[in-house]
Amino acid sequence: MLSDKLKEQTKSNHQQLEKVLVGKLRSIRSKEEYAALLKLFYSYFGGLETEINKVIDPTLLPDSTERRKTQSLADDLEFLGSTTPEKATGDSLPTLHSHLQALGALYVIEGSTLGGKIISKMMQQHLGLNGGGLSFFTSYGDRTEQMWDTFKETLNYQATNPEQEAVVIAAANQTFLKFGDWFEKSAT
Ligand code: HEM
Repeated sequence: MLSDKLKEQTKSNHQQLEKVLVGKLRSIRSKEEYAALLKLFYSYFGGLETEINKVIDPTLLPDSTERRKTQSLADDLEFLGSTTPEKATGDSLPTLHSHLQALGALYVIEGSTLGGKIISKMMQQHLGLNGGGLSFFTSYGDRTEQMWDTFKETLNYQATNPEQEAVVIAAANQTFLKFGDWFEKSAT
């Protein structure tokens, strides 16, 4: 199944990104530093979602709008008294010219809700954030697993041959890699 292939074939890029992110998370000591991290997610995911919206077929992914993350990131930044940065554009983003490529990017965005569960707990403990600022990383809360399963089901029937699967997998890998580049760029 495509979802299994995606997991297998993007594994090393996930691990690499996770390593970078864990380093950043460990160094966060203040709400300002947490806001700086959220800005990186806002700018990258915000740019991705702008491109995804142009090419996704919403009839094939009916809960597509509910799955968008830009607004929850903006809400968290507002709660922290921070502004929203410019969204990433052009070469900073993966190539998303088709519904299948958009699905690859969405796989990465949706998968971030799984790691988000761990991250939101970490930030809650480190920063004592109880009343707000965690909506992006908390995401679907108790429904996270269910939302992930329904996303994978949808994904699996939309790419029906190896060529189509390869398009989704390549877009997912590019989405991971470009996010890593985005983090690196912010550190310089
Ligand atoms: C500290 C950072 C992160 C940690 C600790 C982490 C941890 C995890 C864990 C534990 C899972 C597996 C959950 C499960 O199978 O139930 C997972 C899956 C996943 N994560 Fe992360 N993650 C992190 C960051 C990210 C980020 C930033 C992204 C995307 C931008 C991401 C994308 C994914 C994807 C796509 C999957 C699904 C893999 C599959 O197909 O099963 N993760 N992550």
